[in-house]
Amino acid sequence: MRIEFNGAIALVTGAASGLGRAAAVLLHQNGARVAGADRDMRGLEELSRETGGAIVELDVCRDDEIEAGIAHIEETLGPIDILVTAAGILQRPRAPDALPMAEWDRVLATNLRGTYRCCAVAGARMAKRGAGAIVTVSSVMGATPGPVHAYGPAKAAIMNLTQSLAAEWATRGVRVNGVAPGFVATPAIRRAAAFQFVNEDRLAEAHAQRRLVTAEEVAQAIAFLASDLASGITGVTLPVDGGYLAAAGWRGFDAAGPQER
Ligand SMILES: NC(=O)c1ccc[n+]([C@@H]2O[C@H](COP(=O)([O-])OP(=O)(O)OC[C@H]3O[C@@H](n4cnc5c(N)ncnc54)[C@H](O)[C@@H]3O)[C@@H](O)[C@H]2O)c1
Repeated sequence: MRIEFNGAIALVTGAASGLGRAAAVLLHQNGARVAGADRDMRGLEELSRETGGAIVELDVCRDDEIEAGIAHIEETLGPIDILVTAAGILQRPRAPDALPMAEWDRVLATNLRGTYRCCAVAGARMAKRGAGAIVTVSSVMGATPGPVHAYGPAKAAIMNLTQSLAAEWATRGVRVNGVAPGFVATPAIRRAAAFQFVNEDRLAEAHAQRRLVTAEEVAQAIAFLASDLASGITGVTLPVDGGYLAAAGWRGFDAAGPQER
């Protein structure tokens, strides 16, 4: 089913790469006017060559840049109808005694605080106008524990934030939902694999579908949640995880997993 956004204005953070880029491209293909925001101008310029959309350089760790970026988009394009918060960073898996607090702070500042601030600024404007849809980007690592003691808690907190902001603005026409992707071979995961922080084959094995999720699959779920097809849905975080969470309970029983039983 094709979703038609009819010129709705969508702001996508993290649009220069990976999941944010895939969401920006799909929203554009489905008729949205997309503004990409990121700290990586080269990636944004490439996106703009493909979509013809607006771009804005901003760091989601900087409140002033978020406020100025959102104000600039609304002044130049018009009111933001859709916000997708895909800007984020991964974390190298480490034991707590090897995880510097500076890294913990950086991961929380980018993934949680950055998401909150973008939602708070854009969402308040949407609520004032009485319409809007926000889609946050969490992770299966926010729903199940792993050796990422900054990243996992940040992603779990985004799920809670998604619910609390949904409840906050539900009667004012603003829906807030999220996606929790399984592992996706984005540039971030490819870099982590190149440094041997993760192994793509082992990650694929951990999904019930025995493969990684694609960025396009995550983008489709984002587009659905942002669209009027999801008009009765708010406060949920939808796993787009190839059965990663569903398979978790099998791992302690045998190496084979569900299909081979
Ligand atoms: N790749 C995966 O397997 C996976 C799985 C679950 C969730 N996620 C989440 O999806 C989101 C996107 O990840 P990705 O894999 O596409 O990574 P990516 O590195 O390919 O893309 C992330 C983008 O965010 C931007 N960004 C990072 N910090 C920023 C900041 N402070 N200000 C502005 N922009 C910033 C980067 O420049 C980059 O363009 C992240 O929140 C990540 O946690 C990824």
